[in-house]
Amino acid sequence: ARVYPFEGLHQAGIVTPAQDRLHFAVYDLDASVTRDDLIELFKDWSYAAARMTRGLEVSESGATGGSDYAPPDDTGEALDLPASGLTITFGFGPSLFTTSDGTDRFGLAAKQPSSLQPLPRFAGDALEPGATGGDLCIQACADDPQVAVHAIRNLSRIAFGRASIRWSQLGFGRTSSTSTSQVTARNLFGFKDGTANVKAEQTETVDTQVWVQRGDDVDWMTGGSYLVARKIRMIIESWDRQQLLEQERVIGRSKREGAPLSGGTEFTEMDFDATGAAGQPLIDEAAHVRLAHPSANGGAQLLRRGYNYVNGNDSLGRLDAGLFFMSYQRDPEQFITVQRSLSRDALNEYIKHVGSGIFAIPPGIENGGWIGEGLF
Ligand code: HEM
Repeated sequence: ARVYPFEGLHQAGIVTPAQDRLHFAVYDLDASVTRDDLIELFKDWSYAAARMTRGLEVSESGATGGSDYAPPDDTGEALDLPASGLTITFGFGPSLFTTSDGTDRFGLAAKQPSSLQPLPRFAGDALEPGATGGDLCIQACADDPQVAVHAIRNLSRIAFGRASIRWSQLGFGRTSSTSTSQVTARNLFGFKDGTANVKAEQTETVDTQVWVQRGDDVDWMTGGSYLVARKIRMIIESWDRQQLLEQERVIGRSKREGAPLSGGTEFTEMDFDATGAAGQPLIDEAAHVRLAHPSANGGAQLLRRGYNYVNGNDSLGRLDAGLFFMSYQRDPEQFITVQRSLSRDALNEYIKHVGSGIFAIPPGIENGGWIGEGLF
């Protein structure tokens, strides 16, 4: 069973080979919370997270070792299960630093990274307040869904009276590989997703594109990153009525192999200048991969770490399904640049962005340290 240490230079759950399952939760702090309460919460969360990622119960007394007359510290559903590669990654939303009316609740305004701002509105956004924004986020990833859910459930329980869940999302089937050791998985449109992703082994690219470097912004973010989460509903029924050729044109890659339509196999570089017999570009001008490619975005790259989701169905009997997109980048501007370029994306006919969040992901901690200590 895989165990990823909670402590380290960077938080786990970013370049960690993407696990199979996700439970992502966004929290709002209760109005009564003080600066000292916030520090306590971060310490309590860090202690519990360090234990759970080792496959331990949230505290020493855990699920059954406390008083017979008190609710157990640990809810118990992960007893007997291994750590299952659990990673728990914490993030801070812009509203932790300054609320929308400009209030500096915790005396943290001076610590706010200048690049941590609510995302601009993008063409086609249909964001639902119930899946957007938030003070804090926790990404729990594991190879066993019960382990990921146990982590979020227990961290939420610990936060009781201090922070409560604003919105959350379960994900299955990673839609990205973040390591060359992994095969490329598929998203719910049936296409391989993650082929051209930034991979952990590309250490130079990871340093220039994913980790905040000293001097970028506020000092405490050095070794951290920025997470953008987008809940993207897929209009599955329209997609499923399209011919194979149209689906491939929209993506710009072949469906079975994931090869560029300009030729070759999955990992062949794309040739955007290649043309067919009639002089038409082999990779369409509006193909997703053309507009998302670094060459169309001033070199900007993203480390994508998304998951498929199905939240049952809507009242018309259509699957409420899509891609829970998550990307990590050194600066949110990288995501903004790519998402703006995608305003002409042929894919837009088949998707709708319904949720959104942006979070500063602080660096990792040393043994016995706590997440957020650099803030205070
Ligand atoms: C590539 C699907 C949304 C950024 C790809 C690929 C597929 C895909 C199939 C090609 C394989 C690969 O290289 O991973 C989708 C679907 C989406 C979606 C179905 C929505 C439901 C987004 C969004 C962004 C994005 C919102 C960023 C704003 C990228 C990037 C690449 C890519 C950067 C790699 C391009 C390259 O360098 O070749 N996507 N994507 N995608 N996508 Fe998406």
